[in-house]
Amino acid sequence: MTKYIINGAKPLHGEVEISGAKNAAVAIIAAALMVDGVCRIENLPQISDVSTLLNILKQMGADIRVVNKRTIDIDCSHVGTSRATFDMMRRIRASYYLIGALLGRFGSADVAMPGGCNFGGVRPIDQHIKGFKAFGADIEVKNGIVSAETGGRLRGSQITLDVVSVGATINLMLGATLAEGNTTIVNAAREPHIVDLANFLNSMGADIRGAGTNAIKVRGVRRLRGGFYSIIPDQIEAGTYMAAVAGAGGRVVIKDVIPKHLECISDKLREMGLKILELEDSIVVERMNPLLSTHIKTMPYPGFPTDMQPQISTVLCLAEGMSTVSEGVWDNRFRYVDELAKMGSSIRVIGRTAMIEGTPYLTGAPIKAGDLRAGAALVIAGLCARGETTIEGVNYIERGYEKMVKKLSDLGADIQMRYIPDEPSILIKDAG
Ligand code: EPU
Repeated sequence: MTKYIINGAKPLHGEVEISGAKNAAVAIIAAALMVDGVCRIENLPQISDVSTLLNILKQMGADIRVVNKRTIDIDCSHVGTSRATFDMMRRIRASYYLIGALLGRFGSADVAMPGGCNFGGVRPIDQHIKGFKAFGADIEVKNGIVSAETGGRLRGSQITLDVVSVGATINLMLGATLAEGNTTIVNAAREPHIVDLANFLNSMGADIRGAGTNAIKVRGVRRLRGGFYSIIPDQIEAGTYMAAVAGAGGRVVIKDVIPKHLECISDKLREMGLKILELEDSIVVERMNPLLSTHIKTMPYPGFPTDMQPQISTVLCLAEGMSTVSEGVWDNRFRYVDELAKMGSSIRVIGRTAMIEGTPYLTGAPIKAGDLRAGAALVIAGLCARGETTIEGVNYIERGYEKMVKKLSDLGADIQMRYIPDEPSILIKDAG
């Protein structure tokens, strides 16, 4: 088993480069299935969710060529199947984007139900299904497989989402791209990666307007052709390093970012007493004073992102006074607080709200990550804590953070990745 070992209470200094956005990359790779020709995708993050999805496409017959460590060419022209029911589909959430992409391309899809981070609650896909039905697909979920059939092209339609869902917005945008006629997605999500996917599809010949607003209009086209595209920087990876500086102290230049995407995070950190300077494509984060408590509610973009909730809650464990953090997107995303309690934090969760009483310091402990963002939060806790913290479950972290150990070490953190052999199993031999 691989663990991270952190000796904390050391401020961070220097520069860190932010990788391409995970949640844009997984949508764009799935979208490449609909493209007739070679797509060159640049600024891909080197994370396991991306390699899992690329492996899935490869198994389906895609031709994938690595140009350099951040750039690949994908050619899905020879993919001849609309079935994607491999076991590895259950490892990542974004495998559900294959439903929209395959339906768009073949008019049918058999796709294993997605897996991905389980942070405690259910992760329904009813809004995706409702949308595909409105597009004329017969769709059912049976034995862990989503099967959809149209008998031709999908038909564009107007769909009003009952909840603001990133995944449903993306999936329906994918389906609508090659559909017959026009689609409007009302109450659409507005996250930066939705805009990035629309830009990718448009650069390949799609006709999508309004991405980034809550009404996305898609005029269906007959085919997409190959081209080049570079993925936007990861808002949440950048936010995680900002939170790390807030917790551990110091001054760090966070490079290769779009500062506008970070405003919701920067504003909260300023309320907490940090100095944030926005430059053209970088942001400087500096903590000079003790942290101040605050109140946060997570919301769809442009609100404070749920994917930063565990990291910011961890930092607030060290802010003087009482803070509250309310989860406005997921039913339950506070399982990690039990791990923070082992480090001396004082957090009480009632329903969707955490009440956090600041303490002067955390202490190192052996702890375990249960999902991606919880894992990032525990790394931040380790960086802030006095003494040694060991973190298990780092495979979750590596699903979404490229070279986190190296990036933090370069900032002066004392963090190492260590392979620790599992306890030998005791074999009980049959006496007979
Ligand atoms: N929802 C429904 N029905 C649906 C879809 C969603 O009720 O059909 C509800 C969910 O239960 C949730 C809310 O709508 O309460 C929002 O869910 P959404 O569909 O937006 O989430 P998602 O698309 O499954 C993506 C990110 C998550 C991020 C959420 C919210 C990807 C691959 N995942 O998930 O990212 O938390 O949007 O911003 O893009 C992460 O990166 O760590 C992560 C979990």
